Amino acid sequence: FETGSLAGCRVLVTAGPTREAIDPVRFVSNRSSGRMGYAVAAAAREAGARVTLVSGPVALDGPAGIERVMVETAEEMRVAVQAHLTGCDIFIGAAAVADYRPAQAAAQKLKKHNATLSLDLVRNPDILAEVARAHPRPFTVGFAAETEDLDANARTKRMQKSLDMIAANRVGPGQGFDVGDNALTLYWEGGSESLPHQSKTRLARELIARIAQRFHDAPPS
Ligand code: PMT
Repeated sequence: FETGSLAGCRVLVTAGPTREAIDPVRFVSNRSSGRMGYAVAAAAREAGARVTLVSGPVALDGPAGIERVMVETAEEMRVAVQAHLTGCDIFIGAAAVADYRPAQAAAQKLKKHNATLSLDLVRNPDILAEVARAHPRPFTVGFAAETEDLDANARTKRMQKSLDMIAANRVGPGQGFDVGDNALTLYWEGGSESLPHQSKTRLARELIARIAQRFHDAPPS
């Protein structure tokens, strides 16, 4: 890890979950704590970058020296990302964006009249895919959280979303969501590398070193 390897670069990172309202007191969300994305933002700052962190609701303090923008929903995250994209050299999507949201949030708290309740969900916009389609586009890095077929699913996601790199993590006991440690396999055009199980802080530094290297070797097309 080379200090200063991202000196002069602007890096935009997303982290944490999003919350999609069901009614004024309930939401659909996931187990992301924000730790991975916050560690990535801090490591990019250590490497000399100017970092903006767009964060869903988490219990973490903002890392020192980083501009943090707090959001709640996928739509708010999308607006914040678009607002900070101009001049951005590298985008890293570590957030666990809710893929679906309730078709309509109820204005009043839902009453429990029935034994069962069905929710109609609609797809959320894919923030990462939108960034990858921008002109000009930053060097675009996605994450893939998988419970099975990590290798095949990560490669497919990278191709489908036209990413410069994807960082895949297996989710399960001791790694992935809401724990201090993780392991990642990185995929890019023509290569891959596994980064071993370790603290998210150390892992993020290794990830940023690989991103810096690929960014300087093969800037976005
Ligand atoms: O926050 P922690 O508790 O530290 O956990 C870390 C993590 C497991 C959340 C993180 O390492 C991780 O894998 N983040 C991505 C989780 C995810 O939603 O993966 P996905 O395979 O569903 O999404 C693929 C990529 O598309 C991700 O970069 C995601 O940010 C992006 N995406 C997905 C859906 C959507 N609507 N918009 C997006 O931008």
